Amino acid sequence: MRRQALTTENPLAALPGPLLAWYRANARDLPWRHTQDPYHIWVSEIMLQQTRVAAVLGYYARFLEAFPSVEALANAPEERLMKLWEGLGYYSRARNLQKAAKMVAEQGGFPDTYQGLLALPGIGDYTASAIAAAAFGRREAAVDGNVLRVVTRITDCHDDILDPKTKKAIRDQLQAIMPTEAEDIRIFSQATMELGATVCVPNGPPKCDMCSARDFCLGRLRGTAEVLPVKKPKKARKIEEKTVFLLLREGRAALCRRPGTGLLAGLWEFPNVEGSLDEETAPAAVAGWALEPKQWKNKLAAKHIFTHVEWHMTGYTLEVAGDGPEEFEWVNSDGLEAHAVPSAFARYYAEAREQLGEQK
Ligand code: ADE
Repeated sequence: MRRQALTTENPLAALPGPLLAWYRANARDLPWRHTQDPYHIWVSEIMLQQTRVAAVLGYYARFLEAFPSVEALANAPEERLMKLWEGLGYYSRARNLQKAAKMVAEQGGFPDTYQGLLALPGIGDYTASAIAAAAFGRREAAVDGNVLRVVTRITDCHDDILDPKTKKAIRDQLQAIMPTEAEDIRIFSQATMELGATVCVPNGPPKCDMCSARDFCLGRLRGTAEVLPVKKPKKARKIEEKTVFLLLREGRAALCRRPGTGLLAGLWEFPNVEGSLDEETAPAAVAGWALEPKQWKNKLAAKHIFTHVEWHMTGYTLEVAGDGPEEFEWVNSDGLEAHAVPSAFARYYAEAREQLGEQK
């Protein structure tokens, strides 16, 4: 019986032919797919780590316009770099990008192997493989969440994909069936991701009718596709309560700089303290900065989710008098725009724009 036979063959081996044909006819037209320039491909892959394609497109274009070469990025002022990254999140990516750019500029060019790429800051297993394949046509399988989903479904694999051993095994299986011609390698690498992003989708039923693997995908044939891949539940995120103050003084708002290390290092934020302060206890925090509250205006709650931490924020908007600590910078609305304030503070940034706009 055909179905029986499929369980003993390697269904992945049937993938390359139909997948390449499907990709050539159906792939999304994305700017980094028109280039083999390792700098451009690298920037796109770093931005695409943890960020959706639609969100990346504008950032990618602006970034390459501002820094058209790896040398330009290596020499960029940090504030400008962070400003261009503002809103994209995971800011250590931007810092690592510049660190790596300095190394590449010093070496006089990009490493063209998986191992060489892996040695650069911010480049892990997946990104090294993706760049090696797309820029240099190397036979390196790039395994991201999309690819893990595609392969576990095709092979009906129920191993925990958060276990590095599973990922390594899947990489080895893909590596074994990858095409050998540079141009096919480039396409295969993009196509495995593309199939996962547009057809073999997460959350909701996969679009098996449109899939180039439909005839041999064990997940489809056995009806398990929708429960794959298996992810063992992660530890719960740590919850951190904070109270954020939007302090206004004569048409300016106070910003201060985050510490040089740790989460969102060196970026700008609104003064804040640990814990959720109520109307009774918040004035003491303001007094602690030697500021005198003149008028309490708004109370605003907001939440931001990072990979391992959630910030639950209580916020107060108020007019104050006094100088405040030296490290406070009092900015008008133009000054606010010129500072890189991470999107964790988006709710308070919007409130600041509104308040400063009103007072201009
Ligand atoms: N996600 C990660 N890399 C990608 C790429 N090159 N194209 C589309 N989505 C991606």
